[in-house]
Amino acid sequence: MSDTMLTHPLVVGEVGPGCKKVDPIVVADGVTRTFGGLTAVDVAHVEIPRGQITALIGPNGAGKTTFFNLLTGFDKPNAGKWSFEGHSLARVPAYRVARKGMVRTFQLTKSLGRLTVLQNMLLGATKQPGENMFTALFKPLWNRNEDEITVRAKDLLTRFKLDAKMDDYAASLSGGQRKLLEMARALMSKPVLIMLDEPMAGVNPALTQSLLGHIKELKSEGMSVLFVEHDMHMVRHISDWVIVMAEGKVVAEGPPDQVMNDQAVIDAYLGAHHDEDLGDMTESNPVLEAKEAAAAHAAEEGRH
Ligand SMILES: Nc1ncnc2c1ncn2[C@@H]1O[C@H](COP(=O)(O)OP(=O)(O)O)[C@@H](O)[C@H]1O
Ligand SMILES: [Mg+2]
Repeated sequence: MSDTMLTHPLVVGEVGPGCKKVDPIVVADGVTRTFGGLTAVDVAHVEIPRGQITALIGPNGAGKTTFFNLLTGFDKPNAGKWSFEGHSLARVPAYRVARKGMVRTFQLTKSLGRLTVLQNMLLGATKQPGENMFTALFKPLWNRNEDEITVRAKDLLTRFKLDAKMDDYAASLSGGQRKLLEMARALMSKPVLIMLDEPMAGVNPALTQSLLGHIKELKSEGMSVLFVEHDMHMVRHISDWVIVMAEGKVVAEGPPDQVMNDQAVIDAYLGAHHDEDLGDMTESNPVLEAKEAAAAHAAEEGRH
């Protein structure tokens, strides 16, 4: 019946799992990832709308982080293809994905404790000659950009209220401040799409409000935002669109109020093992870790 067909301005045709968007920024097809006998991700089709805040929700173990890892080149799928702004990203390594404007943060923060807050920010700047470890050896090449990048880093730290901590080691920050630092660092490279993996996790309620405010700001600046959250109530006030994963699949999507009342979503949450924290202990960021090692080494050399 046509009166039961749900439509939405972001969507072409009917709203439902895998529905086509008017202006998608990411389109994924047949993306699967198995670990041994376990199918962690099995996304038949999903489109992320451009210029909107999209929440990717689902119970622990649903495959949200694994899907993020696949889209951003931090992990390789068994099958599937996906595109960002119409360009295929399959088999594109993480650092090149970031350079194209698709930048992500991690569920477990990756701020590098043995570097200062400001140094962490400077590592977030891509497209600078100094990011290449070889040109980094030739300091003059790097210097040309350095002032501009430092100004941007300081501006972002001020915006995230971390400017007073600029010269402190990142290890001295609270969990919430590290989440802010990671978000600020992701913005250094001026992303088109920013992907945040549980930005609110482990953050105290006072800081949660400011994080939500920052996410809304990103949208008002024209960025597309895709963020993972397992608490479905958290996303109600902030997201334009909600995509629900369960057992690796997209089981529902739609505007927040509609999705929260969807029986498939309620079932997915009720059926999940709530107190099981599957965590992301295997997550690692080889790109940043290599940069940290190089930067720590260079800092050490500079002292002699
Ligand atoms: N590197 C890995 N090795 C083995 N199993 C993994 C690995 N990463 C994730 N998994 C498993 O894949 C499933 C999905 O995990 P994940 O993507 O972290 O879920 P979510 O982020 O939605 O909580 C879980 O069952 C998890 O244990
Ligand atoms: Mg996760």
